[in-house]
Amino acid sequence: MFTTNPFAELSATIPEYAMQAYVIAMVFLVVGGTILDMLHKKSAQYFFENAKKAEKEAKRQVSGGEKMSLAIKTVTSEVITSSEFANPIRRMSHLLIMYGFIIFCATTAILIFMFPTPEAAAPEMVSMLWHIGAIMLCVGGYWFWFFIRVDVYSEGVSLFKLVRADLFIVSLLATCTFALVWSNTQGSDLGWLMFGLFIMSSTILFGGVLWSKFAHMFFKPAAAYQKRITKADGSAENLPADFDLTDPAVQAQFPDIPQYMGKNPANMGLGIKRERPNHY
Ligand code: HEM
Repeated sequence: MFTTNPFAELSATIPEYAMQAYVIAMVFLVVGGTILDMLHKKSAQYFFENAKKAEKEAKRQVSGGEKMSLAIKTVTSEVITSSEFANPIRRMSHLLIMYGFIIFCATTAILIFMFPTPEAAAPEMVSMLWHIGAIMLCVGGYWFWFFIRVDVYSEGVSLFKLVRADLFIVSLLATCTFALVWSNTQGSDLGWLMFGLFIMSSTILFGGVLWSKFAHMFFKPAAAYQKRITKADGSAENLPADFDLTDPAVQAQFPDIPQYMGKNPANMGLGIKRERPNHY
């Protein structure tokens, strides 16, 4: 069942050009939504102004080669491995959601543009990957929704309370859940209902970029790169330097450290990591 191409059967009712037009329309909605999001929140303007400010506060010049190496590090760390997540559980769930979504979108495009009819038989591998991508997203997404979300886990908010910030995760989950159920109930009345819900949720997902967190997948890599630059050039977002409090030079600079923090100030225990944050 997971090796069948659901779009091939659909082509008996919905012509292939209509499916292709829908996918193209969704791409335009994402591009348009992202541009409107940037204009509305002035995020690009803020980003460049902030980068200029950091440049003025820079303690050293970062060379072109170093910038290139920082860009490669951003891609191989923050982007590919979601390394910004300190919590390994949250990181694993994000990786499942991210790669599930990428695989699901890529194989949807391959199936609809290259193998839209039963005559153009799709390789079983591609159909299987379409299902695997959707399952990966559901596993990571439901895990996040039920067990990891900070407002539920740490703040005691009800599992079922929906706010606008949930638009992205809910429409992602609805799209992949209904896609999977549709693929397995195709040909029946239930199958048509599931197909309708699948299209409705995916239209909300791709059409709701302006109101959801969708565009973070484009903005976060830029922000992560900029953070690396501010660390390399010493501007450090105007934060104090990361002092080693046991360093005699630092202790000489701040002679009152032992008075406030003892003779061994680095050994301050686990701090906020002492226990899990679920006090509500
Ligand atoms: C296919 C691409 C991606 C998908 C489907 C995706 C999905 C998600 C989801 C569902 C969340 C939780 C949002 C919520 O709180 O409701 C999230 C958060 C996050 N993502 Fe992604 N993501 C993608 C790409 C990326 C990339 C490329 C980066 C970084 C380079 C990134 C960094 C983050 C970070 C730091 C958070 C936590 C902070 C926040 O909620 O804003 N994501 N992502």
